[in-house]
Amino acid sequence: MANKLTRAVAGVQEWFNYRTPGLLPAYRKHMSEYWAPKNFNLWYYFGSLALLVLVNQIVTGIFLTMNFKPSAAEAFASVEYIMRDVEWGWLIRYMHSTGASAFFIVVYLHMFRGLLYGSAQKPRELVWILGMLIYLVLMAEAFMGYVLPWGQMSFWGAKVIISLFGAIPMIGDTLVEWIMGDYLPADATLNRFFALHVIALPLVLLLLVVLHIAALHEVGSNNPDGVDIKKTKDARGRPLDGIAFHPYYTVKDIFGCLFFLTICAFVLFFEPTFGGWFLEHDNFVAANKLVTPEHIKPVWYYTPYYAMLRVVPDKLFGVLTMFGAIAILFFVPWLDRSPVKSYRYRGWMSKVLLGLFAFSFVWLGKIGAGPGTDPVETIVGRVLTLYYFAFFFTMPFWTAADATKQVPERVTMHD
Ligand code: HEM
Repeated sequence: MANKLTRAVAGVQEWFNYRTPGLLPAYRKHMSEYWAPKNFNLWYYFGSLALLVLVNQIVTGIFLTMNFKPSAAEAFASVEYIMRDVEWGWLIRYMHSTGASAFFIVVYLHMFRGLLYGSAQKPRELVWILGMLIYLVLMAEAFMGYVLPWGQMSFWGAKVIISLFGAIPMIGDTLVEWIMGDYLPADATLNRFFALHVIALPLVLLLLVVLHIAALHEVGSNNPDGVDIKKTKDARGRPLDGIAFHPYYTVKDIFGCLFFLTICAFVLFFEPTFGGWFLEHDNFVAANKLVTPEHIKPVWYYTPYYAMLRVVPDKLFGVLTMFGAIAILFFVPWLDRSPVKSYRYRGWMSKVLLGLFAFSFVWLGKIGAGPGTDPVETIVGRVLTLYYFAFFFTMPFWTAADATKQVPERVTMHD
């Protein structure tokens, strides 16, 4: 019986190999013979978790689309219908809205790991650039998704953010009108955002993720020691410090996914709006162009940049600061001049400055989520914004000047 089964499986394999000869080598290259450093730690879970959340967003998004009505007259009521009348609709909606926040939590930690271990440095510049493009598309995707339920925050958030383009000299006003397709966020805006949110941007996102992983697999993964595992190979040409991605890391990643899903389940079932952080209370009220919400603010994952926009007095300069803060991240591979990759082997200066950077980003997030009326907070916001830019502009100097420790020849294992 077992023999028959083995022969049947081999037969099917042969059938496919004959017709798609490239498939098996691709599987080997990316899975069973992709040699990943054996010292991956917790930080290395976030790439696979980002993939998991991406799949969740696509699957739940498809089901939401089955009952969502993309028109200004019906959108809000259709979301309420999903929440109250569609079987399991509330779960699907919350999986999608919590998924959006989970996506950013995972992606921010994934990016921070890149800074921590010098993963953006040569030869992984392209992996980082593709990651940054993913981040940009993800922000646009989440913004447009937030507009779709046509709640108060959808409407006013869209109005504030799209109006930012009005700060551009000469073409600003025309551009705002062109994006909205009207003089205010309206039916036309909702229609086009729907098209972009459900098909155009997800396609771009998927393509970028494939390229991101393909680029990584060309050069190989970095690791917490920043040691190049390709330098020490056995007689068969396999890195001594590498292990096959499948089955070793597939099993590890599945464990990570299950752990992560458990945490997500707690949020979903007990605190799906996360106290207004994942879905704002104002968005449970239908859009009304005659009533402005008390505090218009974006979802938490944009608030560090939103804080920068608000603390700069001039509108155009504020917009430039906000977009500049994102743009500067593209240059990290060339700003980081440290001769060693991992922070494990960098000096105290790098550690302190990176720690302060993370702290200021989070604090800016807190300021951006607040009402923005406290003058002391505005000053603090300015100082933190200055620090944010100074961190990157001076990076070539302090990364080059900082002390370093001897990097080991082989990776080290920490329990
Ligand atoms: C949808 C979003 C994303 C997905 C699905 C994704 C997926 C992955 C996966 C599966 C890996 C390999 C596993 C790992 O190292 O954790 C990886 C590595 C990497 N990603 Fe991403 N990523 C995303 C966004 C980003 C962003 C926004 C950045 C930075 C701007 C980025 C930068 C990197 C870098 C530098 C590596 C190599 C890390 C190393 O080898 O140490 N990724 N990504």
